[in-house]
Amino acid sequence: MVPAAIQTLTTVDEARAFVASERAAGRRVALVPTMGALHQGHLELVRTAREHADTVIASVFVNPLQFGPHEDLERYPRTPQADTEQLVVLGVEAVFMPSVEEMYPDGGRSATLVTAGHLGTVLEGRSRPGHYDGVLTVVTKLFSILQPELAVFGEKDAQQLFLVRRMVRELNLPLEIVGVPTVREPDGLALSSRNALLTEGERQDALALSRALEAAGAAADRGVEAMLAAAQSVFQADTGVRLDYLAIVDPSTFAFAGDHHHGPVQVLVAARVGSGATAVRLIDNAVFTIP
Ligand code: PAF
Repeated sequence: MVPAAIQTLTTVDEARAFVASERAAGRRVALVPTMGALHQGHLELVRTAREHADTVIASVFVNPLQFGPHEDLERYPRTPQADTEQLVVLGVEAVFMPSVEEMYPDGGRSATLVTAGHLGTVLEGRSRPGHYDGVLTVVTKLFSILQPELAVFGEKDAQQLFLVRRMVRELNLPLEIVGVPTVREPDGLALSSRNALLTEGERQDALALSRALEAAGAAADRGVEAMLAAAQSVFQADTGVRLDYLAIVDPSTFAFAGDHHHGPVQVLVAARVGSGATAVRLIDNAVFTIP
């Protein structure tokens, strides 16, 4: 049983009416967009939202637009009851859980897309064509429906956070974007809803991602190429993980950092753990400074 303390909003009209009443009461509204299967990382987003706002709305929507035809849309974990219970414990005022038909009445598609441009075709976007257009489109819809004063995103998908911030700036959207550091297991594994799909052995293999970041960080005083080589060597030693990409960018532009780069750099990694149809694709990143 879900306590009545949380409002479950399933339609756009209900969501708009809820937000209108919060606004009329002079309350500042924060949105935490999620795809559900909530873990401590999401809960940290909610806590951050609470620090900045009177009313926190979490959205739980597995957005088909951001999944490619051969990706894990069907397999993506869905735990709406458990999600709502966790949000109640955190004192979230409302959860927006629309159906696919409610968000995309035109057969689950949207003819109008918000495009991420060139940056949507590199790194994550290269492995997942159209992914960030799907993300920016659903995020824009959520901003338009819920009109929050601020929205909170995790730093684990660094490219997503960069693109959302750039979209808000370039389209003059009237809200603030707050980023929250990645939450990790004690052994370094970045929390992800997809971790629920890993077997115990695969979970051990998945540590290669955070180890590669650590290795890169340890080589930071020797420059970009040394950092890449150090991170790469972790994957050469590990057979259970297939590296998708490993890259170093300037966090202020997301452009690839050259070997003479100094100052902050962001190391980005994506890899597949396990094999065949049940392989799980994970991402991670960390920021270091090249002296
Ligand atoms: O980061 C996510 O979980 C999703 O990409 C988001 C921002 C909720 C959009 O579907």
